[in-house]
Amino acid sequence: MQGIFKGIGQRMAVLRATSRSGALAIAACLAMAGAALGASSLLGPDSVRAEPSSVSAGQSLRGHMGVASCAGSTCHGRSIADGAMVRQDELLRWQEESSPTGAHSRAWRVVQEPRGQAILRRLGLDAAGAQRDCAGCHATPGATRVADGVDCEACHGTSGGWLSTHYTVGASHGRNVAQGMTDLVNPAVKAQVCLDCHFSGDARGQFIAHRIMAAGHPRISFELDLFTTLQSHHDEDADYAQRKGGKTNAMRMWAVGQAEAVKRSLELFSQPSRAVDGIFPEFTFYDCHSCHRRIYDGEAGANVTAVPNPGRPLDLGTPPYNDENMIMLLAAAKVVAPDAAATFDARAKAFHRAMLAGRAETVAAAQALRQSADALSSRFAATSFTRDQTFAIMDSIASDAIGARFTDYEGAVQSVMAVDTLLGGMVNQGMVSTASAANLRVQINQAYAAVRDPNGFQPIAFRRALGGAVRSIRSLR
Ligand code: HEC
Ligand code: HEC
Ligand code: HEC
Ligand code: HEC
Repeated sequence: MQGIFKGIGQRMAVLRATSRSGALAIAACLAMAGAALGASSLLGPDSVRAEPSSVSAGQSLRGHMGVASCAGSTCHGRSIADGAMVRQDELLRWQEESSPTGAHSRAWRVVQEPRGQAILRRLGLDAAGAQRDCAGCHATPGATRVADGVDCEACHGTSGGWLSTHYTVGASHGRNVAQGMTDLVNPAVKAQVCLDCHFSGDARGQFIAHRIMAAGHPRISFELDLFTTLQSHHDEDADYAQRKGGKTNAMRMWAVGQAEAVKRSLELFSQPSRAVDGIFPEFTFYDCHSCHRRIYDGEAGANVTAVPNPGRPLDLGTPPYNDENMIMLLAAAKVVAPDAAATFDARAKAFHRAMLAGRAETVAAAQALRQSADALSSRFAATSFTRDQTFAIMDSIASDAIGARFTDYEGAVQSVMAVDTLLGGMVNQGMVSTASAANLRVQINQAYAAVRDPNGFQPIAFRRALGGAVRSIRSLR
């Protein structure tokens, strides 16, 4: 199975380092790309779309105008980021395939490439099947031209209501949002937009079933702030802060992102059509490595490979629910909302335990847990995440109580992304200097290295690597 997964550790560490390094280098390489591509020339006249037919989760697709309508050279199609308010080279960055900022423009093309075709073949899907099962995430839901992949309006909202006014005199972010632009400044709103595709959503073709992964699809791993940084095509300069009421608080983005991910998982799991696949539960919701490991049932005595996990009061042999975001959420809640943390923890345990009782019991427990996650999301949205709180959250993640729950690969990956994000967020807010954060890169990369290979994941060694990283970060306190 190795090779199916992207090797998140290495990839993320490298990407993150690049994405935070000097705007100058990025500007220079984009200017070159601009000269080569001629910016909007990639978009033919046929990119103008007809009225689409279906509706995606939460937002109306009426008035989807297509990438070409954003691409003018006086709009977002410049080859240099010299716009007065926004960069105005957003189109070029979205098209820049060699960097993660360009991943969305190639999203449909990857379905046509060998790996995508192999997945389709194994699933027995023809072109119509690919439209049905893949286009909800690899294109803009409801758009008529799937070839444009995940376009501007997939995230910013369909623009029929605001396209002609969002740059005129009197325009403000508030007015644009009132006219239908998606409020991506709001962490919960942004999380819901990304989770539709980076977890699974409600719209057609937005569900990563275990069958799709078994056919060769990469495992989905997501962390809101890290992924926002990776695909960012905007600058948080003085006028951004003025227009949007301040710079992004990465710690809040991370915490709300965890709460929203827990909610999304439980919402989908509670739908009978999603939770079951034939006579089996839908395996996508469970900890992958609880099933995907070798069996030692014999000669030298039963050698149990499961590591005890105090967060999951289950019998050995039952597949545990994937609780990567629950673990992070608890770590943050313990610091920021200690009163609510205990309830959340108790409900999470009750949810795991309910799996042994039956479907009705489990769905009831999922609803209670979802409510707790929702309350935490609102609490986080109103929290400033001070320097002390952020250091305390990192300690909480590396503490014995939380660390004992990193028995699975997914939770471990989340914890490394969290430490990286929280440190980056403090740098952004001027709470920690860039130079001292850079000195810690080695330790953080060691923690990433400990999650590089999903099949070689060693819980105990991992805890040591994470503890080391957090200990050195603590020296900044
Ligand atoms: C729930 C949304 C979702 C659905 C449904 C989905 N995908 Fe994906 N797919 C993703 C995301 C997100 C990634 C990127 C994963 C990452 O890098 O974190 C991806 C990655 C891929 C890749 C790897 C691309 C690369 O750059 O290496 C291929 C190939 C692919 N998907 C094909 C398909 C096919 C074929 C289908 C339909 C059978 C499908 N996907 C359905 C969300 C989805
Ligand atoms: C994957 C989602 C996604 C896609 C696709 C996307 N954007 Fe963005 N965009 C964002 C996010 C998130 C932000 C940051 C919003 C914020 O913090 O205010 C942003 C910021 C921007 C900004 C700066 C806003 C400001 O007020 O400073 C502009 C302009 C922009 N995007 C235009 C575009 C255009 C044009 C395209 C298509 C070529 C595009 N975006 C595609 C998610 C996306
Ligand atoms: C309509 C579906 C959709 C939405 C909405 C969406 N994405 Fe994606 N995203 C994808 C797909 C599909 C890929 C993989 C494309 C590929 O590999 O070519 C992807 C890739 C990415 C990548 C590159 C990952 C890598 O490993 O290189 C980043 C970063 C990313 N998305 C961030 C975001 C963020 C942040 C948001 C929300 C603001 C968001 N995306 C919203 C579908 C979506
Ligand atoms: C409840 C048990 C269970 C869980 C949990 C589970 N799987 Fe599976 N998986 C299976 C079974 C059973 C097969 C089919 C094996 C076969 O065909 O020989 C399978 C097959 C696969 C395959 C194809 C392997 C091959 O060699 O053909 C992949 C890839 C895969 N699963 C990935 C995942 C991922 C990723 C997750 C977590 C999101 C996951 N699985 C969770 C039981 C599970």
